[in-house]
Amino acid sequence: MGSSIVITSGKGGTGKTSLTAALASALAASGARVLCIDADIGLRNLDLSLGLSDMVCRDFCDVVLGGCPLEEAVTEHPLIPGLFFLGAPVFADHTEIPHEGFTAMIEEARTLFDWCLVDSPAGLGRGFRLSCCGAEKAVITVTADDSSRRDAQRAASELYELGITELLLAVNRVRPRLIKRSRSTVDDIIDSVGARLIGLVPEDDNVPLAANLGKPLLLYAPKCRAAKAAANMAERLSGRRVPLMKIGK
Ligand SMILES: Nc1ncnc2c1ncn2[C@@H]1O[C@H](COP(=O)(O)OP(=O)(O)OP(=O)(O)O)[C@@H](O)[C@H]1O
Ligand SMILES: [Mg+2]
Repeated sequence: MGSSIVITSGKGGTGKTSLTAALASALAASGARVLCIDADIGLRNLDLSLGLSDMVCRDFCDVVLGGCPLEEAVTEHPLIPGLFFLGAPVFADHTEIPHEGFTAMIEEARTLFDWCLVDSPAGLGRGFRLSCCGAEKAVITVTADDSSRRDAQRAASELYELGITELLLAVNRVRPRLIKRSRSTVDDIIDSVGARLIGLVPEDDNVPLAANLGKPLLLYAPKCRAAKAAANMAERLSGRRVPLMKIGK
C-alpha cells in the first residue's frame, strides 16, 4: 500500500504547489510510482509547476463523480517516468463532491502508486477539508513570517480534528538573515507549529523561473538548492536519514 500525503498550509502562497511538484518529481526520479493530485478547484496550477499544462484532459471530478477509472484519468509525465498527474476542475461546487468518493479515490490510488500527493488550496474551508480526505499524513508548508506561522498552527489543529495526526513541517523560502533580523529561529517556527521538520527549502529564483517557463524544477535546474532540498525531503519521507541543508545568507 502506498502513502497518501496532503500538502497544506492554511495561508495562501507559502509554496504548496511548488513543493508538491518538486517532491513528486524527486520521488519519481528515485524510482517510485507517484501520483499527484491538484485539489485546488478553480485556482489550479500544479499542472504548470509540472510542465503539463497542455497535456491534461481529466480531473478528479471525472473520477469521483463521473465514474472514470482512476488509471484512465491520470496523465503520465512525458519526461519524468513514474510521475502521474490528475488535475482539478476549473468549475465545481464543493458541496456536490462527496468526501467518501474522494477518500475512495485516494484509497484506490494507494493500491496503484507508491505515493499519492495532494496539493491543497489556500485556507481552511471546504476545499481544504476535501483535500485532506484519505490522507495519512500532512506536510504543512510554512514561510518564516508570523502570519504564515499562525495559519500553520491553525492548520495543524484542524488536521488533528480531521484525524490526521502525523504532521510534517516544510519551511519554505528560507532566508536565514531575514529570520535572524526578525529575532526568530527555525526552532521557533517548529515549536510554534508543533510538527516534525521534514525539510528546509531556501529562497531560490529557479522556482518561479521554472514555473513561468512551464518546466518542472527537476528538469529546469536539477542541481539548484530548492531541487536539492526537495530531493532531501523525498529521502526523508522514504525513511532515510539525511542531514539538514546548510543555507547561507
Ligand atoms: N523556495 C522558493 N523560492 C522562491 N520562490 C518560491 C519558492 N517556493 C515558492 N516560490 C514562489 O512563491 C509563489 C507561490 O508559490 P506556490 O504557488 O507554490 O504557493 P501555494 O502555496 O501553492 O499558493 P496558493 O495558496 O495560492 O495555492 C510562486 O510564485 C512560487 O514560484
Ligand atoms: Mg497552490
